[in-house]
Amino acid sequence: MKVQVCIIGGGPSGLLLSQLLHLKGIATVVLEKHTREHVLSRIRAGVLEHGFAALMREAQCGERMDREGEIHHGFFIAHGGGRMDRVDLHRYSGGNSVMVYGQTELTRDLYDGREKSGAPTVFEAADVALHDLTSDRPFVTCRRNGEALRVDCDYVVGADGFHGVSRKSIPAGVLREYERVYPFGWLGVLSRTKPVSPELIYASHERGFALCSLRSQVLSRYYIQVPLSDRVEDWTDAAFWEELRRRLPAEVAARLVTGASIEKSIAPLRSYVAEPMRHGRLFLAGDAAHIVPPTGARGLNSAASDIYYLYHAMLAHYQHGDDAGLDLYSQKALARVWKAQRFSWWMTTTLHRFPANSPYEDKLQATELAYLFSSERALGALAENYVGLPF
Ligand code: APR
Ligand code: PHB
Repeated sequence: MKVQVCIIGGGPSGLLLSQLLHLKGIATVVLEKHTREHVLSRIRAGVLEHGFAALMREAQCGERMDREGEIHHGFFIAHGGGRMDRVDLHRYSGGNSVMVYGQTELTRDLYDGREKSGAPTVFEAADVALHDLTSDRPFVTCRRNGEALRVDCDYVVGADGFHGVSRKSIPAGVLREYERVYPFGWLGVLSRTKPVSPELIYASHERGFALCSLRSQVLSRYYIQVPLSDRVEDWTDAAFWEELRRRLPAEVAARLVTGASIEKSIAPLRSYVAEPMRHGRLFLAGDAAHIVPPTGARGLNSAASDIYYLYHAMLAHYQHGDDAGLDLYSQKALARVWKAQRFSWWMTTTLHRFPANSPYEDKLQATELAYLFSSERALGALAENYVGLPF
């Protein structure tokens, strides 16, 4: 098979880029390790910044998102032993907002879109391997149903997530990795219950962080901070609801509607960046190059700017023979990636309980939130980062 751009990974990053390029007549293929059903069974986060939503519309995949997604103009932070303060995103970001729409649904819309437009996907692509990346003729090999497949291309995009093969194809001496692992995880529960609040509540509590989120007005998503040693089997639904209640302000806990969990899992929290994001004719995008703890809702949103830069760089190359965007990709993408890292780190350290903190550090942490809600400038900094810095 011969294409212009071979994209590895059929998660949101790879699918969105492929769809955008396909609509401009640039030939791509997506090589995905799993089946479509498997990819769509993964429960992921659900807050999209406005720039990501705009890319979904440009990819002609935004119709259901605009119909079923919810525009949120703010969220709450519960702190200080019972206070609930609202962050007015709309006011403090100069009129912006976020879209609450599940990442699983968004991925489904991207798969439906590419099926409609006839863009090719190879599912269950096994043993994907990248070759001759620093030559003018890179190629990718894999196996499908036991048969060997070779894809010749101009460029390879590694959008195969944190555990993918693309980043590992960059020689160790070239790649520099930066990492922070947090000493806790998030236990998440999805339940078919009415959300406790129409807007998200991030709760900072001495027993640990909690988050009340939602997928729709009948589907709730809740999280609590847990030690890394906890196993999901140790948490009954009843124990989860009880612990969540204890971390929320009394009037919120009193109106919490509980129900059977549809999904329950523990995710560790980690910050990670790999530099550079280009090696020869390979470009990394999304979780393949960087991950953030979920506290600032930046995961998918940091992928959005990678896709935006890469899409425009590829267009300039194929339509005008202009390679400046490709040459600057790594530098430009990393500049925004690091800002998302900074914000996610700040949200995480401000809102979680760190068992090893000294009483002095605990006081500073409480003061961070007290300061935030006493300063319009501090609220402005939070709001502009949460709705997404410009690309
Ligand atoms: N070969 C082919 N495909 C692979 C390989 C491989 N060796 N390894 C992984 N994949 C596939 C995975 O099965 C997955 O479908 O690559 C895809 C990567 O998707 P994601 O992990 O979702 O990463 P990305 O598309 O960058 O999405 C960005 O935003 O909310 C965050 O972390 C969350 O996944 C989310 C991310
Ligand atoms: C979610 O709904 O899963 C979610 C929302 C906001 C976050 C993290 C996760 O910051």
